[in-house]
Amino acid sequence: MHIDTFGRKIDYLRISITDRCNERCLYCMPEGYQGWSLKPDHLTAGEIIRIVRVAADMGLRKFRLTGGEPLLRPDLVQIVAGMAAIPGVEQIGISTNGTRLAALAKPLREAGLATVNVSLDALDPGLYHQMTGGTLGPVLAGIRTAASAGFDRVKLNCVLMRGMNEGEIWPLVLFAAEHGFPLRLIELMPVTSGGVLTERNFMSSAEAMELLRQRDQLIPQPERHVGFGPAKYYQLRHTGALVGFIGALTNPHFCETCNKLRLTADGKVRPCLADHGEISLRETLRCGDGDTGIRELLQSAVLGKPQEHRFRGAFQPCRPMTAIGG
Ligand code: 5AD
Ligand code: SF4
Repeated sequence: MHIDTFGRKIDYLRISITDRCNERCLYCMPEGYQGWSLKPDHLTAGEIIRIVRVAADMGLRKFRLTGGEPLLRPDLVQIVAGMAAIPGVEQIGISTNGTRLAALAKPLREAGLATVNVSLDALDPGLYHQMTGGTLGPVLAGIRTAASAGFDRVKLNCVLMRGMNEGEIWPLVLFAAEHGFPLRLIELMPVTSGGVLTERNFMSSAEAMELLRQRDQLIPQPERHVGFGPAKYYQLRHTGALVGFIGALTNPHFCETCNKLRLTADGKVRPCLADHGEISLRETLRCGDGDTGIRELLQSAVLGKPQEHRFRGAFQPCRPMTAIGG
């Protein structure tokens, strides 16, 4: 078990396994991003599994694979299987854009993946394309396959952008309710270069809640934890949907319950998404000196966690979300 300087219990590691993606979400990928082709230095499957073993030995229990798009990595099933075999690894989740889930949901489930979070910002195909650069059809097929593959949970993630997808929130709520998927509505964070976050396109959790209140009654679920994340959940009385709000920018208590560390695809531990501090594990991994060095670096990352993220100030990301791990 690891407790940081502010008394938070750190038991969750989010691992970016690639910074590549086959979509181009407005809020994530800077236009023309080519990071991966310039830096062919991703951790290998063996290195990722080794870090997870050390982290699990330290007491971390929950792991999530992210990207970029993690399903683009050809050795993904092998990575999941390797992680699932490690004592102490209690839950492995993945965050995906869903485009390749139809083919991979079943093998991933068999390898030991427990939960799947799929990004779904719109149900209108044109708007979906506008926001992600991708095609909705395969994503819906992927979600359907995942829903029948026996995962503990399939959740949907929708990033809120005013003037873009506020009209999609209600259709997404109905879709989520129909299939029994928890839906998370996420405030836009400034994690890509190029000023994606503006006063005009930012939509707060409170505003999204207000929109839902015009159609249904929201019943707070203060004790409800669906997965490892920071969402505050509400049950909608009539539709039955379970909706989580991720108020990264407007909730002043957002960081108080932060339980995670992040590992970037090129082997750096980040104590916080919105803080430039990073500690590289690669040299230690590759010098062949046993696991003590890796453990010490992970421990120093826990102790290096800042009290709060810095999105509320004039935060400028030094690398895009896709290179940190969404
Ligand atoms: N703001 C909020 N959420 C984001 N994500 C990616 N970029 C942003 C951003 N700028 C979320 C997506 C995806 C998850 C991995 O990260 O919803 O589902
Ligand atoms: Fe790709 Fe996910 Fe970023 Fe969208 S949010 S561009 S799907 S990594």
